[in-house]
Amino acid sequence: MNLRPLKQDDIPQVSRFHSLYIPHSTFARLGIPFLKTLYRSFLGSDYGFVYTCWEGGKMQGFIAGATDSQRLLKSLFLGHLFFLLMISLKALFRRPRLLYPLFQTFHYPRRTDLPQTKAELLFIAVKPESRRKGIGHKLILKSLDELKRRRIDGVKVSVERKNQGTINLLKKMHFSQERKFSFYQRERILFSYRIPE
Ligand SMILES: CC(C)(COP(=O)(O)OP(=O)(O)OC[C@H]1O[C@@H](n2cnc3c(N)ncnc32)[C@H](O)[C@@H]1OP(=O)(O)O)[C@@H](O)C(=O)NCCC(=O)NCCS
Repeated sequence: MNLRPLKQDDIPQVSRFHSLYIPHSTFARLGIPFLKTLYRSFLGSDYGFVYTCWEGGKMQGFIAGATDSQRLLKSLFLGHLFFLLMISLKALFRRPRLLYPLFQTFHYPRRTDLPQTKAELLFIAVKPESRRKGIGHKLILKSLDELKRRRIDGVKVSVERKNQGTINLLKKMHFSQERKFSFYQRERILFSYRIPE
């Protein structure tokens, strides 16, 4: 098993994994072109990182995180304003009910605010056939290493309350529960982790 940082050529596959395995996220609902732009902006940003996991030449999973998720998303929106506006309008035209979650997205930073913890693990997915083999665990450990390398001492992550698999994984890795909050009319849990020196 080999973990490595995202490359330009991986973007279509990472976007497809995100769309298939995290289908309820607003970003996934905005479609593959949006996701490709999102992951391109990870590559071009000092604030973001993505690791992919490979076995037998096939991608098994990925994780995306940020040293400052607000800044990362801000640079995504400002850097691709017109393109993202067009994609969002197109998606909204097809699915007007997306308007509410899209609007809610702007409240996300406030709901997940934790003093002195700007770093965040944003998305993780492992393909179904490869789950429960420790890949998710390895991807999170790699992200914690990456954050430590960047001299970040704490990270947060928010998960839907019904996503028991991810919650178990975080608890197993000693993430602490901070609070529950409501987002997109669903309950989520905010976790944090202090990265030891
Ligand atoms: C969450 C996810 C990334 C976990 O990946 P994984 O490679 O299966 O995780 P691991 O094998 O490292 O699991 C480690 C531990 O986490 C817990 N765990 C993981 N998945 C679980 C599940 N479905 N049910 C219960 N516990 C689970 C277990 O304690 C597991 O240890 P064990 O297998 O020894 O019991 C994967 O299930 C996934 O891709 N889910 C869909 C995408 C998603 O919901 N992402 C989170 C929101 S962005």
